[in-house]
Amino acid sequence: MARTKRGGSFYDTPQIVERYLDHRHSGVPSPNHVMEEPAFLAELGEVAGLRVLDLGCGDAAIGQVLLDAGCRSYLGLDGSAAMVEAANAALGGTAGRVEMVDIEDFSAPPSSFDLVVSRLAFHYVEDIEPVLAAVHECLSPGGRIIFTVVHPILTSYDSGVREKRTSWVVDDYFLQGLREREWMGSAVTWFHRTVEDYVVTLTKAGFSLTSLRECAPCEERFAGDADELARRRRVPLFLLLAGTRA
Ligand SMILES: C[S@@+](CC[C@H](N)C(=O)[O-])C[C@H]1O[C@@H](n2cnc3c(N)ncnc32)[C@H](O)[C@@H]1O
Repeated sequence: MARTKRGGSFYDTPQIVERYLDHRHSGVPSPNHVMEEPAFLAELGEVAGLRVLDLGCGDAAIGQVLLDAGCRSYLGLDGSAAMVEAANAALGGTAGRVEMVDIEDFSAPPSSFDLVVSRLAFHYVEDIEPVLAAVHECLSPGGRIIFTVVHPILTSYDSGVREKRTSWVVDDYFLQGLREREWMGSAVTWFHRTVEDYVVTLTKAGFSLTSLRECAPCEERFAGDADELARRRRVPLFLLLAGTRA
């Protein structure tokens, strides 16, 4: 396997951003579209007037959605130059902003945001404890965090199967830490944590857990594709956690 790339730099591997964004926005074939996004939007609630921070924003497609829903401001941070370029192109002419910042280096003044979101980025981060502490610091009292990650049953082990799977292996589940994976045809570094680790780290950072979702497939988004719906009902692919700043 080629040398793995960590964090945002993975997305600066040639062709990865194009591949990722094509798949991400492909509709029914994208698990983000049929599983992660419906759960995320159901969790979001009212955003009018909120100052929103998005950690690992990618192309910031959600920024436009949030601005259209009346959020007061949207700031996306991402560690990939290619993603930041895509996000700036997508948000051009709006009140949204994007900056190239590593999540692990992020900090912001107290009470500078009301809502922090992070979609499918924290499993690229080795230690999320200081990140959640920085999020807690920058949120206003009662402010919320909503984040999704690749589900721990998938980050635990890679069976090496690349074609459409008919079974999944969960192994080394309680062995936290680095996992080298092939993903999107390239080598990447992810970090595995158990569901319990995520919950405990969130609550230790000072958040009250308000929601835990495993992003079950949303039938209405499958455009009548019963086979794909049945396939997506087999295993959870994403975990969503939400908390309120105590
Ligand atoms: C799977 S993509 C998700 C993008 C976007 N949130 C979405 O849902 O479409 C993961 C994103 O996290 C970013 N990322 C990963 N590790 C990061 C880090 N340590 N600092 C900043 N961004 C990071 C990547 O560059 C990439 O844009």
